[in-house]
Amino acid sequence: MVSANVLLMVTGGIAAYKACFLARLLVQAGFSVKVAMTEAATRFVNPLTFQVLTGHPVATDLWGERQTEPLDHIEYSRWADLVVIAPATANCLAKAATGIADDMVSTLLLAHDGPLLFAPAMNDKMWKHPATQANRTVLADRGASFVGPGEGFLACGTNDTGRMVEPESILAAVREVVVVPASSAENSGFWTGRKIVITAGPTYEPIDPVRFVANRSSGIFGYALAAAAVAEGARVTLISGPVANLAPRGLDGFQPVESGREMADAVAAALTADADWLFMAAAVADFRPTNLAESKLKKDELGKDWSLNMVRNPDILGEVVPLHRSVDLRVVGFALETDDLLARAEAKCQAKNMDYVVANDPTAPGSGFGSGDHQVTLLNRRGEVWASDSAPKSRLAAELLQQLALDQMDEKS
Ligand code: CTP
Repeated sequence: MVSANVLLMVTGGIAAYKACFLARLLVQAGFSVKVAMTEAATRFVNPLTFQVLTGHPVATDLWGERQTEPLDHIEYSRWADLVVIAPATANCLAKAATGIADDMVSTLLLAHDGPLLFAPAMNDKMWKHPATQANRTVLADRGASFVGPGEGFLACGTNDTGRMVEPESILAAVREVVVVPASSAENSGFWTGRKIVITAGPTYEPIDPVRFVANRSSGIFGYALAAAAVAEGARVTLISGPVANLAPRGLDGFQPVESGREMADAVAAALTADADWLFMAAAVADFRPTNLAESKLKKDELGKDWSLNMVRNPDILGEVVPLHRSVDLRVVGFALETDDLLARAEAKCQAKNMDYVVANDPTAPGSGFGSGDHQVTLLNRRGEVWASDSAPKSRLAAELLQQLALDQMDEKS
């Protein structure tokens, strides 16, 4: 069972009734759930419904006059690992984007500095309005996640984009964003205090000041790993290529980088003598353009057939890590293969002197880029250690740590 805290904020739209199902799903999935509602939302659903579903008093107004029970509302946002706003009205997005705090929900939103997930619901014209789209962009740029809106029948009678997505889809999105600690009786404490360096995301290899070569890595798994390791009490430094994700709370260090060479330098600097583990989850570009043009390249000057010359990037695991590796450092690499997955992963593990390799086939069903779910196989130098089910990346990350801890303890015994 998961044990993360989710604060569900319900704002005033007819989809508020679906938020009741969402609250129930979240509770059934093992999350601790508390609810805050705007005044308008309370006109659609009685706060008592959420109080019964979640077992906690519902935050409705700053002055406590309409509250189901007295509560410390700032404590609600501090308590939350994740805030989910479902349904999120146009008004709510506007307030969140501009920092207006004039009621319970907007005040809690401003007081919360962790991950946010919005499930918008509104009339199609309101959703498409440039003002709403600008607010959405501002929030997304600040790291907020969005699920929906979907298409379908709207309360205003049209059939268009604006419907809040179904509670099951919101639950799946919550699982993507939230930290799921993996502690079990067997390995609890293994990660506590360990210094872990994690790389995540793609690298951007510049061609000229405005163009680059990159890959499709989203960074979600590396970020989920960082969040899970923090939740296990590890001291985590996250080195990240350019991604849209919000850095998890509780990191020891966060180092954003762009190119493979910058990532190589950052890894070298992070591998101090006390580093215990390195997870190379980043999809480092193997090649970079040979020459970086100082000014923007013009197509008329490049002609009809333009070839870009590329040169090999430093192999961080193969060439940089050996120069900075202490005897006790455990190294986990990643292998993404579409053919002969396990054989190639094993070969990479040997060739790059990894202790473990996490193998994954992005074309397999229940896996892959942008997919909510993922499937991995963990190998050590002697062979397969664990093959996961297809599961949300946050859960897999937590389980991976658990498997590594168990394997290490087996090795010592
Ligand atoms: N890696 C690295 N430095 C690079 C490229 C990759 O440290 N310049 C790491 C990745 O972070 C990952 C592992 O090496 O942990 C992947 O191995 P790699 O052989 O580079 O795989 P691909 O980049 O997919 O290359 P290919 O399959 O084409 O050999």
